[in-house]
Amino acid sequence: MDGNGRWAKRRFMPRVFGHKQGVDALVRTVLACADRGIEYLTVFAFSSENWKRPTEEVSGLMGLVLVAVSKYLGKLAADGVRIRIVGDRGQVSDKLRQAWEQAESSTRHNTRITLSVAFNYGGRWDIVQACRRAIADGLQPDELDEARLNSYMALSYAPDPDLFIRTGGELRISNFLLWQAAYSELVFTECLWPEFGTAELDAALAQYAQRERRFGAVPSASADEAATC
Ligand code: FPP
Repeated sequence: MDGNGRWAKRRFMPRVFGHKQGVDALVRTVLACADRGIEYLTVFAFSSENWKRPTEEVSGLMGLVLVAVSKYLGKLAADGVRIRIVGDRGQVSDKLRQAWEQAESSTRHNTRITLSVAFNYGGRWDIVQACRRAIADGLQPDELDEARLNSYMALSYAPDPDLFIRTGGELRISNFLLWQAAYSELVFTECLWPEFGTAELDAALAQYAQRERRFGAVPSASADEAATC
């Protein structure tokens, strides 16, 4: 969900104002995904590296999450959204941890779409925490394979993402879903996150529909023909 800061700056507003608009974009996007039959949406809300931001922005973001949970939880719950949080909860305040727990427990029976909010998350953190837990469980090296390690990853309950969208014009993954996005189709858009809406979502889905997914296999004959035309 990149581009909140620039969106706010262009309006001579503080960066946190951009994050606030970003919450509205998130609510609109999760409902639009649900309407389109998408069952899992995972968003990067706060990375392990975002602690390096100015204190004012970090505390603004934490406060915003509390406000967002109280403002939108009822609506999302009523609309069939299950909320799950992935990331290191050790460093966040008790208040925030309780808000996340409330969001998770009050939506746990919902099945229309699962919104996973990556908060204090990093792809490398996830791989390390999965290895640590596997070792703590006493797994021997020959017992560990991809499926087994995946069962320790933070998003083990979700399928790997088919589509990975980054807004804000940067062309990198920035430590998001490093393990899970191995075969995701990547879409990068200049659109700043607060402006992301159904038109941008549908454009990304249209790009996705054009891709041929091979997972390491050879191209199909029809795709080969198309490529040489
Ligand atoms: C990146 O834009 C965005 C973030 C670091 C925060 C995203 C968080 C939200 C949208 C709020 C999440 C709230 C809930 C309830 C999940 P940026 O600040 O790096 O923008 P810039 O690249 O323009 O500076």
